[in-house]
Amino acid sequence: MVFGTINGENVECIRLASDKLACEVLTYGATLRALRVPDRSGKPLDVVLGFDTLEEYIRHDCYFGATVGPNANRIGGAACPLNGKTLRLDANDGPNSLHSGAAGLDRKLWEVLAVSEEAVTLLCTHPNGLGGIPGDLNVAVTYWLDGADLLIEYRAVSERDTLCNLTNHSYFNLDGHGSGSVLDHRVQLYAKSYTPTDAASIPTGAIRAVAGSAMDLTKPTRIGDRIDAELDQLRQAGGFDHNWVVDSDGENPFRPAAQVWAAESGIRMTVYTDRPGVQFYTGNYIPDGLPGKEGAVYRRRQGLCLETQAFPDALNHPSFPSTVLRAGKEWVSRTLYRFGL
Ligand code: BGC
Repeated sequence: MVFGTINGENVECIRLASDKLACEVLTYGATLRALRVPDRSGKPLDVVLGFDTLEEYIRHDCYFGATVGPNANRIGGAACPLNGKTLRLDANDGPNSLHSGAAGLDRKLWEVLAVSEEAVTLLCTHPNGLGGIPGDLNVAVTYWLDGADLLIEYRAVSERDTLCNLTNHSYFNLDGHGSGSVLDHRVQLYAKSYTPTDAASIPTGAIRAVAGSAMDLTKPTRIGDRIDAELDQLRQAGGFDHNWVVDSDGENPFRPAAQVWAAESGIRMTVYTDRPGVQFYTGNYIPDGLPGKEGAVYRRRQGLCLETQAFPDALNHPSFPSTVLRAGKEWVSRTLYRFGL
């Protein structure tokens, strides 16, 4: 189905369904526009925030459901080292770079490589030098519904050494996208430490244990009980907006990063990843009164993101796992969202 047009080209909305889930994917930004999950009475609830029109996706910079990259999250001073030189990136968040600048993959029209009832693969090239990022980066993203699972698979390859840190920026509200804030959701992060940030959300380079602080989400915790705790980290970001270090023994196997439960619908979501970290963001910057899908009016903290990723600003902190993708080498990553009650 045609969702809109950009520069004379059609943006498609592709519908997928499994026996339990249904979703819509836009070719603009390889964006997850809707995701329907059965609640405790079996009724399908759309659990991701989004817009009704392409114009709204273009106008707003919330990254609702978008594929973000080549480099997700922030880079301090919009600069980082690569192969002994300094890369100068597009500064779109004060002096810093956020989600690859103003012209990232979330803003691109993707091509449909393959589509079936349950899966779609979209392709896009992020051209050499755009936003200061070197190399033609060819990216393929697959959305696949399998029973109660949504799997997102990323593959990327560049002809030059570059940065690669791809993720999905869906805002989940497991009581339904129009249901109000996520403060009553409970969350558990499989992470004993996180990367603290400065007031502009740039990592300091430290890896800090969560134990004994409001950042300890190792046990299921009601978001509203913690989000306004007396802690500089929470105060400066207006809530949770940090990268947690997903527990693993050395390597990063495919493992659970987070689990979320909704109060009303009974829906539970578990997120699995092969990445070192996850950005848990509670939608602190969603503008109050933002018109969303189907007449919904969104407000601050109405959705939560669990962006599976490498640690932000990694190349400026030699102790963080590198985000360099070497020329010709394929980058592959998978994130699984598993739904239950
Ligand atoms: C960041 C937030 C930012 C948001 C943009 C998230 O990934 O962590 O700080 O405001 O993206 O919508």
